[in-house]
Amino acid sequence: MANVLITGGAGFLGSRLGRELLAAGSIEVAGQAAAPLRRLMLIDSAPAPQDLAADARVTVLEGSLAAVLNESTAEARAVADADVIFHLAAAVSAECEADFDLGIRANLHGAEALFAAGRRYGRVPVVVFASSVAVFGASAEHPLPAVVDDQTLPNPQSSYGTQKVMTEFLLADYTRKGLLRGRAVRLMTVVVRPGRPNAAASGFLSGIIREPLAGQRATCPVSPETAAAVGSPARTVAGLLRAAGASDSAWGGLSAMNMPALTVTVADMIAALERVAGTGAPELIDWVPDARIASMVSSWPARFQSDRAARLGLAPDPDFDSIIALHLADMRG
Ligand SMILES: NC(=O)c1ccc[n+]([C@@H]2O[C@H](COP(=O)([O-])OP(=O)(O)OC[C@H]3O[C@@H](n4cnc5c(N)ncnc54)[C@H](O)[C@@H]3O)[C@@H](O)[C@H]2O)c1
Repeated sequence: MANVLITGGAGFLGSRLGRELLAAGSIEVAGQAAAPLRRLMLIDSAPAPQDLAADARVTVLEGSLAAVLNESTAEARAVADADVIFHLAAAVSAECEADFDLGIRANLHGAEALFAAGRRYGRVPVVVFASSVAVFGASAEHPLPAVVDDQTLPNPQSSYGTQKVMTEFLLADYTRKGLLRGRAVRLMTVVVRPGRPNAAASGFLSGIIREPLAGQRATCPVSPETAAAVGSPARTVAGLLRAAGASDSAWGGLSAMNMPALTVTVADMIAALERVAGTGAPELIDWVPDARIASMVSSWPARFQSDRAARLGLAPDPDFDSIIALHLADMRG
C-alpha cells in the first residue's frame, strides 16, 4: 500500500495528477511493482477541487506549505507517512518576478519546510519535484547552446528560475545524505492549460489556443517567430509518474532531468489552431507586444535533446495538432 502526497494538489497539474492516481488506484514507486493507493494527501493554499476532496482516500490540508508543515502539527507527522511526495506547489514565474518575497516564501521556504517534514521519521520517501526550463537562460558570459542537453548548466535569469534551481540542489543534497530520494524533473511549458489564465509568463501560450477554441479573444504578447519548448498535460503527468516509478539506478543520479520537448513557434501553434478550428480562430488573437513577458519567455531555451528522459521511455508530443486534439478531448470530458 502506498501513501502519496501532492503539494499544489489544487492546481492545474496537481489536480490532474491526483485524478490519474485515484483512477489508477495504484502507483509504482522506485522500481517496485505497482502498490495500491491507500491515501492521497493534498496540500494547497487554495481549496481542493470538489471531486478530489469527495474521494474517501483523499485528505485535504488547506494552507501555505510553510505554515501547514510547522514541526509540531499533526499534518507534519502525516507528511512523514508518505511513500511518495510530488512537490508541485509554487508561486509561478511572473508572480515571483513581481513579488520577490512571495517567491522566496512560497518556493524556497515552502520546499525547505516540506523536505524537513519529509525526512523527520526516517521513511526516506521518493520526492518528485516539478522544476522548470526557467533554470536555463543566456547571459553575456554564459550563452545558451543552440540545443540544451542533459549536461547544460543552469543559468537562471529570473527569481522563479533561481528558486527552482536552488530547490533542485537542496533536494539533491537531502538525497546525497540519504534523507530523501529526490527526483527533480524540469517541465516544459505545459499546454493547453484549461480553465482560467494564471500568472505564469508563459500563460499566453495556452491562451492563444484555449480562448479562440472557445470563441473568445486572446492576447499574444510576443512575435509569431518566438519559439517555445512545450509538452501536453498528459505527457507531463506521465513524466512525473515515471520519475516516481523509476528505480534508483534507472533514475540515474542527483541532478535534475529535462523532460522531452516539442519545439514550436507561435506561428506553428496558430497554424495548427487554424487547421483544427478554421480561419476565423486566429483572427481572435490580438497582438499586443509586452517587452517584460517577451524578455522572460525568450530567455528560456526552446530546443532540447533529452536523452536521459528518453532512456526512461519518455518521448515528446509528436506535433502541436495532437496537443490541441488532447485539449479538445479533455474539454469534452
Ligand atoms: N504548468 C507549466 O507550464 C509548468 C512548467 C514548468 C514547471 N511547472 C511547475 O509545475 C508545478 C505545478 O504547476 P501548475 O501549472 O499546476 O501550477 P498552478 O499554479 O496551477 O498550481 C500550483 C498550486 O500551488 C499552490 N501554492 C502556491 N504556493 C503555495 C504555498 N506556499 N503553499 C501551498 N500551496 C501553494 C497554488 O495555490 C496552486 O494551486 C509548479 O511548481 C510549477 O512551477 C509548471
